[in-house]
Amino acid sequence: MKFFIDTANVEEIRQANEWGLVDGVTTNPSLVAKESGQSPTDIYQAICREVTGPVSAEVIALNAKGMIDEARKLASIADNIVVKLPLTLEGLKATKALSSEGIKTNVTLCFSANQALLAAKAGATYVSPFVGRLDDIANSGMELVAHIQSIYQNYDFNTEIIVASVRSPMHVMDAAIIGADIATIPFKVLSTLVHHPLTDKGIEAFLNDWQKIDK
Ligand code: E4P
Repeated sequence: MKFFIDTANVEEIRQANEWGLVDGVTTNPSLVAKESGQSPTDIYQAICREVTGPVSAEVIALNAKGMIDEARKLASIADNIVVKLPLTLEGLKATKALSSEGIKTNVTLCFSANQALLAAKAGATYVSPFVGRLDDIANSGMELVAHIQSIYQNYDFNTEIIVASVRSPMHVMDAAIIGADIATIPFKVLSTLVHHPLTDKGIEAFLNDWQKIDK
């Protein structure tokens, strides 16, 4: 499973990249808004300097023409920009047009299997089901991911599934167990994955025993 990092914070991306855990980056308008004092373009440029993998940058327009115009500008920032579009009819229309131009797309805010089917039919490079937001309303986010996987396998769609709205290490583990293509993970969750108290205890015991050796 590929790991994308779900942040617009360049420092977080740099650190996670040093750990070797960044295959790509996803941002959204809310994440970009947290990075005060920098323009969105500056942020995307800085991220694309850090990371060679796909970097998702989201459009704001609500109509297809506006989305396509924004998408072309975003795509000109760097070769690895992926344009993020909402799962609406206008978003699908823009996705179809952009995919025929060779611009990579990530269709976002996906909450149903039918929506994911439409994204794939429009030629989306990626689809992003939001597991955390579904879990929040007592629907199973991971069940949605499994349904999308079945549908994509049934029809040999190439659209890759990005498990998004990840909130916990359990989401990461569940995504990997069902074989999701990608999970996009917030820095806070990413940095907890390595920890296990028995690892810390084991290191401590080994170091203590090492001190007892007559060297
Ligand atoms: C990523 O593509 C999504 O925008 C992000 O994972 C949403 O996460 P949230 O539901 O925690 O805001």
